[in-house]
Amino acid sequence: MEKVQAGILGLGASLPETILTNKDLEKKVDTTDEWIRSRTGIKERRIASPEETNLSLAEKAGREALDNAGVSAEELDLIIIATVTPDMVFPATACLLQDALNAPTAAAFDLEAGCSGFVYGLTLAAQFINNGSYKNILVIGAEVLSRITDWKDRNTCVLFGDGAGAAVMGPVDQGGFLGFEMGSDGGGGEFLKMPAGGGAIPASRESVDNRLHYIKMDGNQVFKFAVKAMARSAKKVAKNANLAIEDIDLFIPHQANIRIIESSAKRLKIPDKKVFMNLENYGNTSAASIPIALYEAWKEGKIGPGDKILLVGFGAGLTWGSCIVEWTG
Ligand code: UT7
Repeated sequence: MEKVQAGILGLGASLPETILTNKDLEKKVDTTDEWIRSRTGIKERRIASPEETNLSLAEKAGREALDNAGVSAEELDLIIIATVTPDMVFPATACLLQDALNAPTAAAFDLEAGCSGFVYGLTLAAQFINNGSYKNILVIGAEVLSRITDWKDRNTCVLFGDGAGAAVMGPVDQGGFLGFEMGSDGGGGEFLKMPAGGGAIPASRESVDNRLHYIKMDGNQVFKFAVKAMARSAKKVAKNANLAIEDIDLFIPHQANIRIIESSAKRLKIPDKKVFMNLENYGNTSAASIPIALYEAWKEGKIGPGDKILLVGFGAGLTWGSCIVEWTG
């Protein structure tokens, strides 16, 4: 069977209007704008209104990506939402979106790979297109992390934000998805987790009193893991795609911390002008961070036909994932 080349046909994004600045956070917890900026690079983040949900953010981003791709919802074969904050444990938010978009021929599921989820989703979608089983696939990273953020924990609450980014993938004549590399280290799962709400610790008065329905993180451990994993994975994906790191035109890493990004770029010898960052405006939006950054890079004219874009994610699991996409649009 001949391989069908997969590429990105269109992008979309959606961000809540409410802005929470570092100064606002100074009033909530014992922190300072100076600490947050110098340790993370974040200045502000977006917070979903009570009416907004994972579905509403995903739907807005998804509709824009479909418009930009010139693909209708009726033509979709699959919808994947990468998220750690679905509307419900089940049914999948992707199924709610399939109904909202009226996409009768689309299969749908959520994918949980922490902040690496969008790269995992693109990679999965590329395989279905490569082997000819599906044509048009909507891949979304969407998060409402504010709903699982402990606003009393200064170690974590200054880091996260809400938003969604979307890509429509489909067959392309040349370029497109050139390669991937993914991995996991479940032994580090304890460093970043939401302990309760699943089958192990179902919701109870005790689980709520103990604040177990919020993100718990050992920041130092995740930091050390991230720097190593990003550089290692980026080198491997370049090799898988028969490219050198110097061939990369734009590096779009998971937007968690400016120090992690700068340190990874340094290890990879990628110059600053090839590194895209928007974390100062949105904080860490987990699975949504890479697609939102990709969308903004495209909107700002930083991506042109033939450009090779390196996407690298890392996060809860622990997981990591990289892929290289040659821009065709
Ligand atoms: O998507 C993946 C998700 N996670 C990440 O990517 C996170 C990776 N980790 C990080 O980004 C960093 O580890 C953090 C930004 C979370 C923390 O930065 P750090 O330089 O590793 O700081 P630290 O945890 O070593 O804390 C240094 C100090 C501590 O005080 P003491 O013990 O030295 O007195 C903390 O209690 O800073 C204190 N601290 C704060 N101070 C003011 C921690 N959070 C805050 C805060 N404001 N918000």
